[in-house]
Amino acid sequence: MGLWDVHSHLLPEIDDGYLDRAGCIRMLEIYRECGIDNIVVTPHIYNPFVRTAIERIRPTFAWAKESAEALGIALHLGSELYVSDQDVLRAIPIADRYVLVEFSLALPPQRLMEQLKQLIDDGFVPIIAHVERYLWLDPSDALVHRLKEMGCLLQGNVDAVESGDALPYLEAELIDILATDNHGNERLPLCLVQMMEKWPFVKKRMEEIW
Ligand SMILES: [Fe+2]
Repeated sequence: MGLWDVHSHLLPEIDDGYLDRAGCIRMLEIYRECGIDNIVVTPHIYNPFVRTAIERIRPTFAWAKESAEALGIALHLGSELYVSDQDVLRAIPIADRYVLVEFSLALPPQRLMEQLKQLIDDGFVPIIAHVERYLWLDPSDALVHRLKEMGCLLQGNVDAVESGDALPYLEAELIDILATDNHGNERLPLCLVQMMEKWPFVKKRMEEIW
């Protein structure tokens, strides 16, 4: 396997990622220079705070995938599904298997466990996006261990490792995936590579996953 970034918002003019087409190409070049050869683009869906041009996701992805291929990068389509209290969870799974999910930062969905179980029963592996952000979750909570025991993977953002917010999760070896959640910051690809070197247990887990 190569190096993966599994959470990013690089598709131009789709969600709150702030790259235009030229910026997207430049960003792909930066990923290549850093040695990251697999990128998953994960536009927000069902997020009440982000307007996403759902109908343009697939055509824009087709354009970006072709551009990435020319640079030797495999681009994959996923989504970042905002889970609140909806009855049916619909997402674009990564590699037909992994569903990246995010939640309100302030409060968990009322039926959190039920919804995650539904995804798992449907054959998917939930990836909890930027786990360090949720005010209702703490690495010492039993809930974190229940999430992992039921089969969820925990993803941390590299800028949160830098700021220290994700360190309690990392130091407890609860993180399965580090990713950029890149909305257009050209510094983040290199940061991801450096973090993977610094935290080899995460690198090993990601190699097992992808
Ligand atoms: Fe994101």
